[in-house]
Amino acid sequence: MINFRKEIADIISQYVEGMEPAEIEQLVEVPADTSHGDYAFPCFRLAKLLRKAPPLIAAELAEKISGAPLFEKVEAVNAFLNMFISKEFFTRSVLEEAMAAGDGYGRSDEGAGKTVIVEFSSPNIAKPFHIGHIRTTVIGNALYKLFDFLGYKVIRMNHLGDYGTQFGKIIAAYRRWGNREEVEANPISTLLALYVRFHEEEKNDPALTEEAREAFAALERGEKAEKDLWQWIRDESLKEFKRVYDMMDIDFDDWSGESFYTDKMPAVIEELKEKGLLKESQGAQIVDLEPYGLTPAIITKSDGTSIYLTRDLASAIYRKNTYDFDKSIYVVASQQDLHFKQLFKVLELMGYEWAKDCVHVNFGMVSLPEGTLSTRKGRVVFLEDVLKTAVSKTREIVTEKGVNADLIDETSKVVGIGAVMFNELSSGRIKDYVFDWDEILNFDGETGPYVQYTHARCASVLRNAAEKFGDTVDAKTAENADLSPVLTPAAYELSKLIYAFPAAVKDAADKYEPSIVTRHTVKVAQAFNKFYHDEHILVDDGTERRAKLLLTSAAMQTIKNGLGLLGIKAPERM
Ligand code: ARG
Repeated sequence: MINFRKEIADIISQYVEGMEPAEIEQLVEVPADTSHGDYAFPCFRLAKLLRKAPPLIAAELAEKISGAPLFEKVEAVNAFLNMFISKEFFTRSVLEEAMAAGDGYGRSDEGAGKTVIVEFSSPNIAKPFHIGHIRTTVIGNALYKLFDFLGYKVIRMNHLGDYGTQFGKIIAAYRRWGNREEVEANPISTLLALYVRFHEEEKNDPALTEEAREAFAALERGEKAEKDLWQWIRDESLKEFKRVYDMMDIDFDDWSGESFYTDKMPAVIEELKEKGLLKESQGAQIVDLEPYGLTPAIITKSDGTSIYLTRDLASAIYRKNTYDFDKSIYVVASQQDLHFKQLFKVLELMGYEWAKDCVHVNFGMVSLPEGTLSTRKGRVVFLEDVLKTAVSKTREIVTEKGVNADLIDETSKVVGIGAVMFNELSSGRIKDYVFDWDEILNFDGETGPYVQYTHARCASVLRNAAEKFGDTVDAKTAENADLSPVLTPAAYELSKLIYAFPAAVKDAADKYEPSIVTRHTVKVAQAFNKFYHDEHILVDDGTERRAKLLLTSAAMQTIKNGLGLLGIKAPERM
């Protein structure tokens, strides 16, 4: 996108000998008060160079540069050169660029040659993939899309919770009460019921606890019977998870999961020992993190079994060795803040300078109006059910709105699932929030349906223009069109938002905050709707119509790219 400060510096530098354009560019500022122009240039630094008083320099420069097509007007006010960018020039450059870049509008190559790992979703095998997992899944997917758009090579990792003592419990419970057909018919809910029953019956049956402990120990030793059972449970669970990922069009490059690191842990423990970091504490092996204000990192428990953190250490090192990342991102709830502080600190103490490239992207909790969730008590809301409900609720709404019968299936799917995903990406990720159907599916709110609907509205305007007038617009049209009809306040506001889209994309990636793109996309949609309501687009005057169609088309492209970065489809009809 055109860099106005640079353009301005190039123009000024033609009249200032002895100062490089780059240096001038540094001095160009954006006045806080817009009545002082879009940009201002203070002339103090030129006084010595030109041996003139700054106000005189400002006055002379104003006269010289004011004819440039970039400016609407240039004023000298004391030592300042106040520059007002030409709306026509601005609009043309925005429309040209958005139209020419198309699906790539907002893209950059800042990440060329760099690798980012985004670990996200990472549900636990044999446990429900529930509403609590939605945030990591949707935020992680958006971060993947953002970094990909900025030219990074991105590896999507799903660090499945497919290991740990709970598998001992599930195996023990399955052996007591389970049967294969039931699990295969309904893997997660059957396994969940077994897990819940285990916790109930364990209270009065200590033998059960012992069976679970033994089953896990056998699994750790790699005994065939336990390993086979575990593998089967993993496969069945994954089938169910993948069904949900497919509904959201989400995929991963690496599904390793925690179990993958079992045989890589002894080396890590050995390394910790060699580096003098391990300490014994009540039979457990720990790394003391007290000097850093953190509770100790437990590496092995007193019964010798390994734990979550140890697997994460092995995994972090594996990620570095395998992918040589420039950045390794973990999209995990803020309940695990301490865990990641410990993890990154231990890596740093091990001497891995890349520990600084590991980032915990945390987020707040989702709750339901009816209360919080608990896997142990079996009170869960499955993500799959939420998505299905979204689709059926949307079906009701669009049927009532009179959507074309042959579009109802597709629209309910795209809009319903899009609405849930959009909602997850709407507010800053750190905020806790309550899941509210009415808000999510409100076609007039700052929602997915509203933005998708606006996109479809743009598409429909363009279709009508083609049918009625044979008009089509592209980057070439933007180069030559008379743009005076789209310099009105509503139109100009929209152009400014289109212009700001690439910066929003970059900002979102820099802050690991997809909601910046969400909010910007909403603003573009709102600005388009204002323009659409304030002004008639399909007027008889061809010049005016084409200018307005150009703006419509650029707005539509920006909305589409924004939704795409959030992992949401942009329907052309609905
Ligand atoms: N499976 C874990 C859970 O559901 C999340 C894993 C997070 N990632 C990690 N590398 N520790 O709580």
